[in-house]
Amino acid sequence: MTRILVTGATGNIGVELVNYLNKPNDEFETIVAVRNIERAKKTFHGLSHLTYAWFDFENPNSFDEAFDDIDILFLLRPPHISKVDKYFQPLLNSAKKKGIEKIVFLSVQGAEQSKVIPHNKIESLIKSFGFKFIFVRPSYFMQNLTTTLLPELIKHQSITLPAGQAKFNWIDIKNIGEVLAILMRDFDKFQNQAIEITGSENKNFLEVTEVMSRMVGTQFTYISVNPVRFYFKKRKEGVKSGFAVVMAMLHFLPRLQKEPEISNNFNIITGKKPTTLEEFIIREKAKITS
Ligand SMILES: NC(=O)c1ccc[n+]([C@@H]2O[C@H](COP(=O)([O-])OP(=O)(O)OC[C@H]3O[C@@H](n4cnc5c(N)ncnc54)[C@H](OP(=O)(O)O)[C@@H]3O)[C@@H](O)[C@H]2O)c1
Repeated sequence: MTRILVTGATGNIGVELVNYLNKPNDEFETIVAVRNIERAKKTFHGLSHLTYAWFDFENPNSFDEAFDDIDILFLLRPPHISKVDKYFQPLLNSAKKKGIEKIVFLSVQGAEQSKVIPHNKIESLIKSFGFKFIFVRPSYFMQNLTTTLLPELIKHQSITLPAGQAKFNWIDIKNIGEVLAILMRDFDKFQNQAIEITGSENKNFLEVTEVMSRMVGTQFTYISVNPVRFYFKKRKEGVKSGFAVVMAMLHFLPRLQKEPEISNNFNIITGKKPTTLEEFIIREKAKITS
């Protein structure tokens, strides 16, 4: 039995990954690593084959027990955690001490180009510990439209970001979850690789609001602001400083970089085509208009 521990299991990617991993009578056991087991059991109430472990990124006392007898660790960085040395150094130390050898880390497209973003630092740290690794570097989640950007979309039918005319590549998290499950089940085939997972479209936010307006039948607008103004807007809305900085950087830096590469890794690994933005907006229309 191969034991897979999934951190961030109740989040965007985690839920999709756990759903794709969960199979009855499987040679893989999925262990959901969460800070609130009762809440997680409600999230996964239909999935009877899961086991649960208490795990808190911000409490090193939770690491050793959660990492007991684990073969593969799925690791992500919760968006509000930006201090890599403070949180990931002790975490990886414990993983090493407990004999974990394989880590699949959810990184971000372009992580290798920017030394300042936490994903770059975490990738380096994982390598420096000598783990076997797979770095999955997805592009920009379509689900940002139905999570972080949703309140403004519903209230003002607008998106405000410091992204200018920068093009983003748009990927459905269901596609990422599906790929991750395949990589984890077939770790040795993909080990020590960084794999970009992208959708098939590069679009800037103006173009995306145009697609949304057409598909939903409501006029949506895009407002580009400078990163400093964006930071203070987010702080005023109650967003924590570290998260506001990362959000500003992730949306501003693409203005200084070339357009994202479109990879066909999703197709190579799954044999399928990635979700298009139109398909996504039709599927999630009810959320955007509620
Ligand atoms: N958004 C994008 O476009 C994009 C693109 C590429 C890469 N990424 C990267 O993807 C990562 C985020 O993935 P996501 O969107 O799936 O995350 P998410 O939906 O924000 O979920 C975060 C997860 O982390 C858990 N968590 C938070 N704090 C915790 C703690 N102290 N201890 C234990 N668990 C904790 C949450 O659990 P609770 O249920 O307990 O809160 C939740 O399961 C980030 O590193 C981001 O940079 C994002």
